[in-house]
This record gives sequence, C-alpha cells and structure tokens, in this order.
Amino acid sequence: MMPPSETLPTIADRTEATGNTPFAAPRFDLVTGRGEPLALTPVGDDAAALGALVASVDPWRTSGWPAEAIAARLVAQEPGARTFAVRLEERPVGAVIVRSPFMRGPYLELLALAETTHGRGIGRAIIDWMAGEVAAVPREANLWLCVSDWNAPAVGFYRAVGFVEVGPLPDLAVVGSTELFMRKVLRAPAAPTAFAPTSMPPGTGA
Ligand SMILES: CC(C)(COP(=O)(O)OP(=O)(O)OC[C@H]1O[C@@H](n2cnc3c(N)ncnc32)[C@H](O)[C@@H]1OP(=O)(O)O)[C@@H](O)C(=O)NCCC(=O)NCCS
Repeated sequence: MMPPSETLPTIADRTEATGNTPFAAPRFDLVTGRGEPLALTPVGDDAAALGALVASVDPWRTSGWPAEAIAARLVAQEPGARTFAVRLEERPVGAVIVRSPFMRGPYLELLALAETTHGRGIGRAIIDWMAGEVAAVPREANLWLCVSDWNAPAVGFYRAVGFVEVGPLPDLAVVGSTELFMRKVLRAPAAPTAFAPTSMPPGTGA
C-alpha cells in the first residue's frame, strides 16, 4: 500500500538529495514526437558539420552567419551556457545552447535543426526537456528565448509550444532587425523563502 502523499519524497527532495543540477549531465536521452530515439550530447568532432548545418537554416542563413563562426561558438566553453549536439538515432541533426540560470528559469540561446528533420516533434521534445530539467527547482518557473520577428515558422513553433511574446528588442542581434523576447510560464512563482536568490541577474532586485 502506498504511504500517504505527504510522506512521499517530492522531486525537489530527490534533487536536493542527489545534488542534480539542471542541464549538467553530459548526455540526455529523449524521444521525438514519433517515438524515435533522440539524444543531446557533447558536440565533439561534429562542430564543423553542425556549424555548416546551423548556417544553412534561418535565421542564420538569411543573416549571413559564417559556418566557421557558428562552429567556434558551438565549442566555446562560455560560463553559464551548455551546448549540445542534437542526435537523431545518433546522427547529428542540430544544435542547442541553453543558458542557465538566467531569470527565474533558463534561456534558450540557440535551437537549430536540419530542415530534413523539421516537423517530427524534435523541437517540442527539446522544449519539454528544458521544462523537465527545472521542474524540481521552485524558483525556475519560466523558459525564455529570443526569435527574429521575421522568422515566422519559428515564431509559430514557439507559440505552438506555449511561448508568448513579452516584448520587441530592436537591433539586438542585427542592426535593422527586431528580436521578440518570448516567455513560457511553467508554473506560478514560488513563495518567498529564506534562501538567497540564485538565478537573478545582478541589479534586478527581485
Ligand atoms: C523551429 C524548429 C526548432 C521547430 O522544431 P520542429 O522539430 O520542426 O518542431 P516540432 O515538430 O516539434 O513542432 C512542435 C509543434 O509546433 C508546431 N509548429 C511547428 N512549426 C509551426 C509553424 N510554423 N506554425 C505553427 N505551428 C508550428 C507543430 O505543428 C507542432 O505542434 P503539435 O506538437 O501540437 O503537433 C525547427 O523547425 C528549426 O530548427 N527551424 C530552423 C531554425 C530556427 O528557426 N530556430 C529557431 C531560431 S530562434
């Protein structure tokens, strides 16, 4: 017989006990919307191929980002950012960069998938993965990203998976182009606690 629910360990209890940190594992195994095996792994030797892949899809294609510059970003060890190759049945088909902690939830800095793989539920699986990684952290109640306002397919995708626009950011990435700052609310903010904030940028005062 199951014990009363108040005696069951919560996800937060388990995370505290195991010391799990969101996005810290070297590999994450997911599945696409079609049930195919999907993995997020280190970029490794695939940086050049993935740089070329990202450069071949919008917004990087239209913005003219060189594949070499993207490849260099994929192997850069930036503090606070985690970069993964997206592998479909172990083949590299995209890249994802997550910045965490960001602002009461992680920031999706880059998500790019090969055109041949669009529409099979990989993007949704990655957004669900982000939400799952912070599910045990009460303060981490949002997902954030920026998307170019002219990248209509991506804006449509983000709306479909629960993001809403919270504001335009003109000239952020490219002069003359506007990024839309988007937010997906995962749950209501946690009640204030005695613990010091861990995921607010300096000076926000929240
Ligand atoms: C945008 C991108 C990440 C989406 O990933 P994807 O794997 O093709 O999307 P999914 O198959 O997971 O789609 C998830 C949902 O979004 C919906 N969707 C996808 N594109 C859409 C669009 N243009 N308009 C409306 N809904 C859309 C799908 O119908 C699906 O809905 P469902 O789960 O209810 O059936 C991918 O197409 C991509 O890499 N594009 C090029 C790079 C890019 O634009 N990246 C974003 C830059 S910020």
